[in-house]
Amino acid sequence: MNNQNNRAVFVTRLGAIAATAGSAVGLGNIWRFPYEAGTHGGGAFMLCYILFIFILGVPVICAEFILGRSTRCNVFGAYKAAGGRNWKLAGYIGILASLMILSFYSVVAGWTVEYFIQSASGALDFDNQQLYHQYFDDFATSSWRPVLFTVLFLILNFLVLIRGVTKGIERVSNILMPLLLLILLVFSINSLTLDKAGEGLAFLFRPDFSAIDPSTLLGAMGQAFFSLSLGLGCMLTYGSYFNNRTNIGRTALTTAILDTVVAIMSGVIIFPAVFTYGVSPAAGPTLVFEVLPAIFHNLPGGVIWSTLFFFLLFVASLSSTISMSEISIAYFVEQRHMSRRSATVLNTAIALVFGSLCALSFGPLRNLTVGGMTVFTLFDNMSSNVCLPLGGIIVSLFVGWRVKRPVISDQMTSFGTYRIRVIGALIFCLRYICPVAIGIIMLNSLGII
Ligand code: PHE
Repeated sequence: MNNQNNRAVFVTRLGAIAATAGSAVGLGNIWRFPYEAGTHGGGAFMLCYILFIFILGVPVICAEFILGRSTRCNVFGAYKAAGGRNWKLAGYIGILASLMILSFYSVVAGWTVEYFIQSASGALDFDNQQLYHQYFDDFATSSWRPVLFTVLFLILNFLVLIRGVTKGIERVSNILMPLLLLILLVFSINSLTLDKAGEGLAFLFRPDFSAIDPSTLLGAMGQAFFSLSLGLGCMLTYGSYFNNRTNIGRTALTTAILDTVVAIMSGVIIFPAVFTYGVSPAAGPTLVFEVLPAIFHNLPGGVIWSTLFFFLLFVASLSSTISMSEISIAYFVEQRHMSRRSATVLNTAIALVFGSLCALSFGPLRNLTVGGMTVFTLFDNMSSNVCLPLGGIIVSLFVGWRVKRPVISDQMTSFGTYRIRVIGALIFCLRYICPVAIGIIMLNSLGII
């Protein structure tokens, strides 16, 4: 399956970083991070999250890049090409997780489209915090509107994908990501001036160690994997598009740092406002959509900020959904020999069905639950807290134990182009630290240890 010659390749160094960062930075940072931090007690969650990003996340990204670039295959083919015929589980987990994430993620991305349109039309401008809550509730519980926007978003995702790998992805993410960073910086500074900024920052940055329990650890680890697009073969697939000079270690570290900075900025924007406007930090998935519009309302030129922000958030979501779609598309094309067009249609069709179920789970399907979770929450939890960490264990074990050291070395140094001194440490992490730590946290959360 080593079709090195006819695969697309990211041409420039910036292209590789922009695409991986484009995949990593998205709703995970801006929507999911604050809501998870809010429900898991703030500071303690934040501390665990940052530790997991660097101790577990960075080595696992390197493992995915190494496996992807050395085999130039999708997640299924990669294990096979690297001599792991019996490691198919990783591929199945990746495809399952990517389709689950695409389904619920498109719902939230659909909310950003709705909020973009409503901001632009001036309809999202109230004087009272309660009205923002009411607005979101009316929207999310209505029967057809969330579905409509989910469908709309998936169609846009389809249109970008159908144009192919390098062109579609690089172009979209290169232009608008820097603008998003800039605007987040402006909002962070603004939030620091709010009345209860001190309380918000203390919530986010002052860890209460007694609040760390198995669910905080699992939540923080799941968030780290989700936010870095890790454990499902997404970074593996992108690694397979890197050219031979891309510096794997540096790309991994840059992506992790950038991704963490965006998540922290998002926390700095949200929590001061949460306390100032009297919203519960533990409001859950709706938190950001209730708080952000109120922040914009109080800014001069609020309608413009709000419209611009939701537009950029929509683009950030799109660069993430493009990357997760790429996993199943690459599988359908390279392993199932479908045309790219049919593969993209199939990927979109699956997401349309499950995305609609997720979209309805705030309203008409609210009572359709499995183990107390709606379809939306089930997909969210199953993917982040189960599939991604499991995928992380598998790729660490495989690269740590099965891939030969010279291959790892060639990949990390880009065939001798760079001097990398931490290869031994990386292999140690992949063999022992990552699988053991991830395993303990997962078992611990199930009450087994
Ligand atoms: N990392 C993306 C985000 O933070 C979400 C994502 C998960 C993308 C898995 C691809 C794969 O928004």
